[in-house]
Amino acid sequence: MQMAMSFVSFRFVATSRKERLRVHRDKGVRCALSKAETAGVLTEIFGTRSDAFDRKGIAMDDAGRRGRSKDLNLTYGEYDLDLFTKLLDRASPAQGDTFLDLGSGCGRLVLAAWMLYDHWKRCFGVEIVDPLHRESIAKYGDLRQHLASSHVPCPTASVDFIMGDLNETDFSEADVVFCYSTTWDSAGPVLTTLSRRLSEVLRPGTRVITTDKMLAEICDADGRGFQLLDQIDGSNKDTFFSTGYVWKRIDRTNLEELVPRPSPSF
Ligand SMILES: C[S@@+](CC[C@H](N)C(=O)[O-])C[C@H]1O[C@@H](n2cnc3c(N)ncnc32)[C@H](O)[C@@H]1O
Repeated sequence: MQMAMSFVSFRFVATSRKERLRVHRDKGVRCALSKAETAGVLTEIFGTRSDAFDRKGIAMDDAGRRGRSKDLNLTYGEYDLDLFTKLLDRASPAQGDTFLDLGSGCGRLVLAAWMLYDHWKRCFGVEIVDPLHRESIAKYGDLRQHLASSHVPCPTASVDFIMGDLNETDFSEADVVFCYSTTWDSAGPVLTTLSRRLSEVLRPGTRVITTDKMLAEICDADGRGFQLLDQIDGSNKDTFFSTGYVWKRIDRTNLEELVPRPSPSF
């Protein structure tokens, strides 16, 4: 633990924020912290796999108290940071966009997105399990303190966490949505409840990342649905392997919006 901390601090001292921004701008990507720095800080704040396992226990206890032990939608896991970062890049976050992690757990990926890009307007999460929601608020406080003590300026975007059911929460402001949906309700590989909810709430043009399951291309009689933009395979510690899908919310009545889709790999 001590060694990891010194390493992170050294990286911060060795590279100024201005230098980091210049390096990433040269590559056409604007970042607040590099991927390696973000990974190091997240380990400082959220710990190792055994800490993630403890959080899984918190989620299982909560599901038991609600009589929802068998509800796979409430399965807790923490998505692999490396694959998340690649998928986020493919969703092309733009200046002033808002990021949302739908089912944000302990807030780890909301805070990862916040650190990886310098140009968000807002990063937020929606989580139905209260102890996890409270953990995300506490971790955000810890992270701000950690960055301050390492003399790293915090990214400027606002961060907030909403405690609630995504089916009853307004998240229409989001431009880029991530959802670790591997165990969520589906018919075969196609997410059912989530496809419908996202098509109702999100604006055309919003990018959505789903994991291991797909959104419906057409969700209702008005032609609202999703266009597959990209997909990436990678390792994910919870599931060993994962496919992430990047979608764009479109209205299929606007046929000019359709672009050729890549061939699915299954
Ligand atoms: C697989 S975990 C992902 C956690 C986090 N996004 C990550 O990848 O590290 C899915 C989360 O979604 C939450 N969830 C499930 N159904 C939900 C709903 N209807 N509304 C809000 N959150 C929900 C679960 O409680 C759980 O914390």
